[in-house]
Amino acid sequence: MKPGNPILVALDTPDPQAALRLAKKLAGRVGGVKLGLEFFAANGPDGVRRIAELGLPVFLDLKFHDIPNTVAGALRSVAPLAPLMVNVHAQGGLAMMQAAREAAHEAAAKLGQRPPILLAVTVLTSLDGGALRQAGVAGGAAAQVLRLAKLAKKAGLDGVVCSGLEAKAIRLALGPDFALVVPGIRPLWAAKGDQKRIMTPAKALKVGADWLVIGRPITGAADPADAALRIQAEIDGRR
Ligand code: C5P
Repeated sequence: MKPGNPILVALDTPDPQAALRLAKKLAGRVGGVKLGLEFFAANGPDGVRRIAELGLPVFLDLKFHDIPNTVAGALRSVAPLAPLMVNVHAQGGLAMMQAAREAAHEAAAKLGQRPPILLAVTVLTSLDGGALRQAGVAGGAAAQVLRLAKLAKKAGLDGVVCSGLEAKAIRLALGPDFALVVPGIRPLWAAKGDQKRIMTPAKALKVGADWLVIGRPITGAADPADAALRIQAEIDGRR
């Protein structure tokens, strides 16, 4: 599952014009864009449609987590947007993830389109061992990430969103056909911002990432299109 251009640009803004301006600059230069809760809560499906109309594949990062019936309904509701990727929280459980997959596939078939790449979020990287213990999860984050990634695969999901530091272990445990989508990416020339556990694009691909979620190094650059091209060149240099 190796995309030609693995870069997914995170358009983390509630401002539809700003998102559209960026997306126009980046169309054809990146593998797609990631639209998350901030954008979706402000602009809804119509906002997503306006971005998708530029021909950019969309990773709809809405992290659904509810009872199976509700999550299945949410997957049916976003199907007309024909997203490239959608995600759910693996902590919602096996039945929830199975219901999500079934709904996504059924809805896509009805619409005559390809089903989305359905991803699981395992453990948010904002949660460390202490935070997990507070929530009743013993054994540390790494073990929980692997446990939930395996559960996601069992449910028929296509992959997970994970940190570059987790990618190698997940790839080893779950094999080559499980998509790994990795944020926290910083090219050598970019500022770290608030990200602490970062990886260069080349390193992330080396440890098993299929897709790279990149925000500020591209969206905050004076010339976003050029930043995307420089990252692609950095990646091509290692292929
Ligand atoms: O600007 P930056 O490259 O840090 O943006 C990364 C994007 O990936 C943001 O949308 C952020 O919410 C998301 N993300 C992350 N770390 C995770 C999961 C998602 O940075 N573990």
